[in-house]
Amino acid sequence: MIVVTGATGNVGRALVERLVAEDQPVRALTRDPGRATLPSGAEVTRLELDRPAHLLDGATKLFLHIQATGDRTGDVLDAARAAGVRHVVMLSSGIINEGADDEAHPIHIWHATAEQQVRDSGLEWTFLRPISFAANALQWAPQISAGDTVHGPFAEACTAPIHEDDIAAVAARALIDDGHSGAVHRLTGPEPVTTTEQITTIGHALGRDLRFIEVPPDQVGPGLFPHVPPSMLQGVLKSFAATVGVRPEITTTVEAITGAPARTFGEWAKDHRAEFRS
Ligand SMILES: NC(=O)c1ccc[n+]([C@@H]2O[C@H](COP(=O)([O-])OP(=O)(O)OC[C@H]3O[C@@H](n4cnc5c(N)ncnc54)[C@H](OP(=O)(O)O)[C@@H]3O)[C@@H](O)[C@H]2O)c1
Repeated sequence: MIVVTGATGNVGRALVERLVAEDQPVRALTRDPGRATLPSGAEVTRLELDRPAHLLDGATKLFLHIQATGDRTGDVLDAARAAGVRHVVMLSSGIINEGADDEAHPIHIWHATAEQQVRDSGLEWTFLRPISFAANALQWAPQISAGDTVHGPFAEACTAPIHEDDIAAVAARALIDDGHSGAVHRLTGPEPVTTTEQITTIGHALGRDLRFIEVPPDQVGPGLFPHVPPSMLQGVLKSFAATVGVRPEITTTVEAITGAPARTFGEWAKDHRAEFRS
């Protein structure tokens, strides 16, 4: 049994779909099973972090999403070990980059602390370190559904956004196949894309002419970054500022592990047209 935390999220949902499609027994954890709309082949279970043993009962593998496990990550890992889990695949972050670490960055601290808890758990582990999710572009959905201009910071910020299903595809291989124990997988999309280019590309997918209007970073509030915990917002803005005019790191890890090249931002935008129309 593979237990998936964060199962209704960008990566978790795609992972549950992939595991079910491969006939793997899956327990998908969510705070609200009634609203989860997960595949019927998954055992959808309420995330009760005060009963971690119940969540991990019968499990052999764990997909760890630390936003979902929060300050109970240690308890979840303890319960996993007690239940007989052999391997944990953690969704970490590319902000952890040995040799180039910004160790005081709050997002670094958050993920590095959890990676250390996983290392200390005694379980076999694999760390997935994606750098920038294409799904971050969903932050612009309210503006795009309302009109043709998008306001935000850092027009020339440049990343190599990764499709969440490519992260899920790597996670599935790391959970199902042998050979990923002790591995750190840095994950990116296939090409550099600026903020302005992301907006133009979403416009192409929608058949609309969208325009990005840059606003100064000191005028950015949490409303523009709903996927970022408010306490992390300044750190995220600092990270974005550092990507302006800099070619992003691009890896070929997705293709090496899954056999299929990482999808472009244009493909991601086509897959998510509906979210920009609603
Ligand atoms: N965004 C990026 O560019 C980026 C880059 C590198 C790494 N990451 C990592 O990826 C993670 C985000 O992955 P994602 O986009 O797949 O996640 P997500 O869609 O934001 O959330 C995943 C699920 O976690 C649950 N959840 C969220 N907040 C919670 C809370 N406070 N308490 C309990 N459960 C909570 C929710 O499920 P229910 O409501 O169903 O319980 C949610 O559907 C980040 O946390 C970070 O660790 C992100």
